[in-house]
Amino acid sequence: MPRLLRIKPMSLLSQESSDEGEHTLKRSLSAMNLVTLGIGAIIGAGIFVLTGQAAAQHAGPAVALSFVLAGIVCAFAGLCYAEFASIIPIAGSAYTYGYATLGELVAWIIGWDLGLEYGFGAATVAAGWSGYFNSLLQQVHIYIPPQLTATPGTPLVFYQDHWLPLASLPPGVSAAGLQHATGLFNLVAILAVLVITAVLVIGIKESANLNSAIVVVKLAVVGIFLVLGTYFLFRHPGLLAQNWHPFVPPADGQGNFGWAGIPKAAASIFFAYIGFDAVSTAAQEARNPQKDMPLGILGSLVICTILYIMVSLVLTGLVNYKMLNVADPVAIGIDATGVSWGSLLVKIGAVFGLGTVMLVMLLGQSRVFFSMSRDGLLPKWASEIHPKFRTPWISTIVVGCVAAIMPGFLSVGRLAELVNIGTLLAFTIVCAGVWVLRVRHPDLHRPFRTPFVPVVPILGIVTALYLMLNLPLITWAVMIGWLIIGLIIYFSYSIKHSKVQALSSASEFD
Ligand code: ALA
Repeated sequence: MPRLLRIKPMSLLSQESSDEGEHTLKRSLSAMNLVTLGIGAIIGAGIFVLTGQAAAQHAGPAVALSFVLAGIVCAFAGLCYAEFASIIPIAGSAYTYGYATLGELVAWIIGWDLGLEYGFGAATVAAGWSGYFNSLLQQVHIYIPPQLTATPGTPLVFYQDHWLPLASLPPGVSAAGLQHATGLFNLVAILAVLVITAVLVIGIKESANLNSAIVVVKLAVVGIFLVLGTYFLFRHPGLLAQNWHPFVPPADGQGNFGWAGIPKAAASIFFAYIGFDAVSTAAQEARNPQKDMPLGILGSLVICTILYIMVSLVLTGLVNYKMLNVADPVAIGIDATGVSWGSLLVKIGAVFGLGTVMLVMLLGQSRVFFSMSRDGLLPKWASEIHPKFRTPWISTIVVGCVAAIMPGFLSVGRLAELVNIGTLLAFTIVCAGVWVLRVRHPDLHRPFRTPFVPVVPILGIVTALYLMLNLPLITWAVMIGWLIIGLIIYFSYSIKHSKVQALSSASEFD
């Protein structure tokens, strides 16, 4: 049993993080690149799609409070991530932190679990992206066969020049007499992931520059939505009074709305915050990781929290929450202001903006596999660096292909729940890890220190578990199944090939 608890020595981690040379990743990212990488990862399908669905299905206008709740959970975890990232600035994120503190088995579980976060995360965003992309094409009267734009069996109707899921028809509109179709699979989402994968294989530097440009577009779209929406609401205070009343709609007896609806919606829109931790997966590509990692993680988190609360308040003020169960709720919101070019702008912004989120998620996933492979826990091909592009090209392609299949068949809401449970589990382990490391290595140099340890890590663990408890049972079942598969791989392959195990037995690394 102690073998499973072997930790990766800090000296080895520091050595790896300062390695240079042909087989290492390029150190090309500045502090600014990291904050934009964070915002690029954070603002995405969560705010552009799930906010509307969570308001319509779980919380009404009180979804703004759900954002406060989920933001608090992320703040605790973010503080813990920042301490770890400043101590152990190498690729691999929570996986690496777990390896240094809690032992190999826990590290494996986190690494495998991060697959749920990043791999399924990219898939979730692709599903949300396809909704905006289709809506944009339909606005300019280009129609992809509707069967290829939705998950299998989704009933679709043609309403006001758009193909919509039947469930998105505004309340009171009858489907009788409308043209019908049934979804086969979401080809659009599949292709989106494959294109992003190709960009990542070509190189991180190019990807980071593209990301920075698109983050500006994304922030501009969110900013324009807020300015137009707020101005409109100031001129129509009656609308606000009507749509925000009651701010917490009465409970429906099935756990939705009322005060119980707020954490339920938080467990869904938590997805909107995921991504700040993806900054830490790029630590090995940062020029000055010890100073810049905490800045990248916490800076991007704070900016996004403020924006989310404002967007959800304005959106539910502009449009009654019952109308927001659509693929493009922010576009519907801006339509309500009567600005004719508004929804086109939002859709274009979302199409580019969600693209960068997929990019960072896929980047994170391939880097986690890269680290696990370097440690011998996954086969060697996963850390193969392309001689010309200097990227872990094989793991990028494998992850991209697997992530591409999922949104073809699962809805954005279902995928997001899976991602959320995986990420929340990773948060609890990271929070525990910070505490354990403080006890075991109190004198370690910590360029960034989480305040009030162990209070902050404990609050991080408790609040993350609370959100997990608000997710459906099926989500728990899939997570447990996923972890079981991971353990089978660990005990049949990884434990025999682990370099840390070999190092401990032979006292020599590789
Ligand atoms: N936070 C990211 C999004 O909302 C993952 O798309």
